[in-house]
Amino acid sequence: MNVRILSWTIFFLLSRHHLSAATDDYSLKIGHLKPFGEAGSKVEVQQIDGFPTMKTFFQDYWAKSKPFIMKGAAKSYPAFTLWSDDYFLSFPEASTVNIFAEVQKKENRTLQPKFPTFQEFIQRYNTTQEYMVDKVPKFLQKDLWMPSCIACDTIPHSNHVMWFSSGGTKSVLHFDGYENLNCLLRGSKQFIMIDRKYPNKGFIDKPRGTYSTVDVDRVDLNKFPTLANAEYHFAHMEAGDCIYIPLYWSHHVRSFGHNIAVNVWLEPKNATCIDLSGCQEAKKLTHYSCRRTGLKASLNTEKVVTKINFFIYLDEIFKVFDTNNDGKITSLEVENISQTDIDQLNQFYDHISSTKFEAIATGRVIDSGQDSAPTVKVSSTDQDEL
Ligand SMILES: *[C@@H]1O[C@H](CO)[C@@H](O)[C@H](O)[C@H]1NC(C)=O
Ligand SMILES: *[C@@H]1O[C@H](CO)[C@@H](O)[C@H](O)[C@H]1NC(C)=O
Ligand SMILES: *[C@@H]1O[C@H](CO)[C@@H](O)[C@H](O)[C@H]1NC(C)=O
Ligand SMILES: *[C@@H]1O[C@H](CO)[C@@H](O)[C@H](O)[C@H]1NC(C)=O
Repeated sequence: MNVRILSWTIFFLLSRHHLSAATDDYSLKIGHLKPFGEAGSKVEVQQIDGFPTMKTFFQDYWAKSKPFIMKGAAKSYPAFTLWSDDYFLSFPEASTVNIFAEVQKKENRTLQPKFPTFQEFIQRYNTTQEYMVDKVPKFLQKDLWMPSCIACDTIPHSNHVMWFSSGGTKSVLHFDGYENLNCLLRGSKQFIMIDRKYPNKGFIDKPRGTYSTVDVDRVDLNKFPTLANAEYHFAHMEAGDCIYIPLYWSHHVRSFGHNIAVNVWLEPKNATCIDLSGCQEAKKLTHYSCRRTGLKASLNTEKVVTKINFFIYLDEIFKVFDTNNDGKITSLEVENISQTDIDQLNQFYDHISSTKFEAIATGRVIDSGQDSAPTVKVSSTDQDEL
């Protein structure tokens, strides 16, 4: 081998080594060790004024899995003007309800939550890190309206959940198994989202809890390289604005200033299957095949059973039996249940026992807030049997 070929060979090997090192090392990439959302590219989420019509919401946003901001939509809620700490404390019931509070503004799902009374929480949230994430106490629910674009019986949804802190909260990067309509009543918030179409295996490293352990203040791109090239959808919300966060979109949320938001979760459904024609009279769904997708869809996608999805499962099970959808299960309907239905139900129970109520046991529980909602209590003996 002559010297020239040898030197070319060495050059080639070195440059190859250099190239491969460059593709594996993300230390010099924009956004490395910076807050979440600074890498990759940035897209602003679309804004419209107020709530859209139901039809627009379903066709243009839900069916297309497209997030958007509804400017000022929640300003018409009585809560927008009524809610203050003095108002909350004026209800004697405030001392009787216990609420779920995260103990740190920077969310960390390995920490144990606290359960102060609503009154205790209000008296100390300005001077602690506590962050209330729980259903809106019953005596305050009268101050909220269902967003008009979903206010129909054919669209199953949770009761309002309240997100209340003195600001500066930072959620983990995560996604939910629900469609989400979130309205901000105080303060401002930033949602940074990644489209569900973008593969999330590279960053949702806790698939059971559907969240990421990435440090949202200091994103290590060597550990999460797919975050280097993601498209980040930014949504900035001011008090009175609402946002639609589509099912499975990963998101990280930051809050600024004294902060109250309320949200409702909607059961995952094929938006084109929901019959809105009778919504004026709040009619029930009649389309059999559409009506029956819920349990199967939930089973295929949900990894964890929380109180809220447990309630939705039970609702779906009721629908499996209630074939004529009149809100009653007759003995004829029970006798008539098909093998396919029985298989589905068995699948549900298998699913429950395999997850061992993980979410409930770790305290990541959002109650559905329904009076009739089941509260699942798992004693240590029950767990051993599961
Ligand atoms: C907490 O801080 C907010 C904003 O400064 C204030 O409006 C509120 O009255 C305070 N609440 C309590 C209980 O001190
Ligand atoms: C969460 O808390 C655990 C235990 O305190 C800690 O090891 C971990 O680094 C924390 N995670 C983040 C993202 O701060
Ligand atoms: C939703 O339903 C429509 C009409 O039945 C169908 O064309 C479409 O593929 C469905 N979409 C999904 C995601 O299942
Ligand atoms: C029994 O099931 C069949 C087929 O699913 C249905 O057409 C029929 O209406 C059911 N009968 C009753 C009493 O629910």
